[in-house]
Amino acid sequence: MTLSTIILAAGKGTRMRSNKPKVLQTLGGKPLLQHVIHTVQQLSTAKTVVVYGFAGNQVQQAFADQPITWVEQHEQLGTGHAVKVALDEIPTQGKSLILYGDVPLIQATTLQQLADANKTGLAMLTLTVANPYGLGRIVRNHAGKVQCIVEQKDATATQQAIQEINSGIYCIDNTLLHNYLPQLSNHNAQQEYYLTDIIKMAVDDGIEIATIEPKHPFEIDGVNDRGQLAQLERTWQTYQVQQLQKQGVQFADPTRVDIRGTLTVGQDVFIDTNVIIQGECHLGNHVVIETGCVLTHSQIGDNSHIKPYCVIDNSQLGQAVTVGPFAHLRPHTQLADAAKIGNFVETKKSVIGKGSKVNHLSYIGDAHIGEAANIGAGTITCNYDGKNKHKTQIGNHAFIGSNSSLVAPVNIDDEATVGAGSVITQDINKQCLGVARGRQRNIDNYYRPDQKS
Ligand code: UD1
Ligand code: CA
Repeated sequence: MTLSTIILAAGKGTRMRSNKPKVLQTLGGKPLLQHVIHTVQQLSTAKTVVVYGFAGNQVQQAFADQPITWVEQHEQLGTGHAVKVALDEIPTQGKSLILYGDVPLIQATTLQQLADANKTGLAMLTLTVANPYGLGRIVRNHAGKVQCIVEQKDATATQQAIQEINSGIYCIDNTLLHNYLPQLSNHNAQQEYYLTDIIKMAVDDGIEIATIEPKHPFEIDGVNDRGQLAQLERTWQTYQVQQLQKQGVQFADPTRVDIRGTLTVGQDVFIDTNVIIQGECHLGNHVVIETGCVLTHSQIGDNSHIKPYCVIDNSQLGQAVTVGPFAHLRPHTQLADAAKIGNFVETKKSVIGKGSKVNHLSYIGDAHIGEAANIGAGTITCNYDGKNKHKTQIGNHAFIGSNSSLVAPVNIDDEATVGAGSVITQDINKQCLGVARGRQRNIDNYYRPDQKS
């Protein structure tokens, strides 16, 4: 049976006090709506319909590359109305999952269980909570069968005492949606078209409602203000850290790390405090990441050691490399095994060969460095002439003396040497020495104005 998804995302999010639509606020480095869309993509759904309201252009632009059917809800007249405006896009057969753009952490396994639980036409996700205030309550009969949902504002005192709440997430047969939604009315305390009213319609038609609970309570947590967003962020971070601890990662302090994306790991990884991991990263066996590092979309091989305060962006690091402290590896840096990058070194779009060292105060851009080369302190590749970028080639076992400028395009062959302080503008052949600097003169009996003759 085909499964569609309807994501309600028309709410204004007034309480966020932002000029950005709520569903574009980020959690774990990703817009709220993106979480839901990624989760849905893990299921085999036929169609994803997003009901939007405010700042539609901004929301659509943010997801321009994804196959989404957009439906505008001009006025926010309630959850039932929101699904109703999407009806034209919902097939007459099959089932639909109803999700919220501001309930970001719903998990694919839970949604699959919900879809599987729908055998009679309607299944919903509920949870018994300590403080149900503000949420719809699940009213059951003496036999424990769901009768209806009452909203907080419409609930009697007895109903308000019910602790089982409606998550707002359902799996409903499309025939029921097409049948019931046009019948909704807004005769209630909030004068809204309640989607929840279709529960009673189904019960009246003799349909038994299935309910399941999410594995983790946070899966159904919604975001309405900055406080809730920050709280859910922490919950998510804690959950991710726990998953990584189960895989053997040691965190110096689980509360002082942020994983904004996906981290895969080998064994015995150590992560010190205040490390930020963004995008898709991988850390091999025995990798150590010291304090204050920011890793984005990067892979780090076994036994490598990243010292404090390094920024590593879109880079590939081999095994047993050392980086930092205070290094900046910009996109497309590739470090071969046992390479070493020291303090205050910036690299960009460069390959640094096996065992090669760039230990201090260098800029290496658009360069290819062979194996076991030594790049002296303060070496700069002058890769940009104001218009174009040019390449620097440095061979195996080359030795670049300190404070040299290598004006690209330039080729320094295997085993070549550059004298310290040189400005190299011409290629240097294998095993040759290139020196390009003023020769030193010493002048005798020289007295500065402040010195006596
Ligand atoms: C709804 C449920 C309630 C449940 C709660 C869980 C109804 C009537 N009530 O409450 O039983 O406990 O969710 O959070 O369904 N939205 C639209 N268009 C609208 C109205 C809402 O797109 O016209 C979207 C919002 O952006 C939000 C979601 O629907 O993502 C839920 O809306 P919200 O107002 O937060 O939920 P309630 O109606 O209070
Ligand atoms: Ca809400």
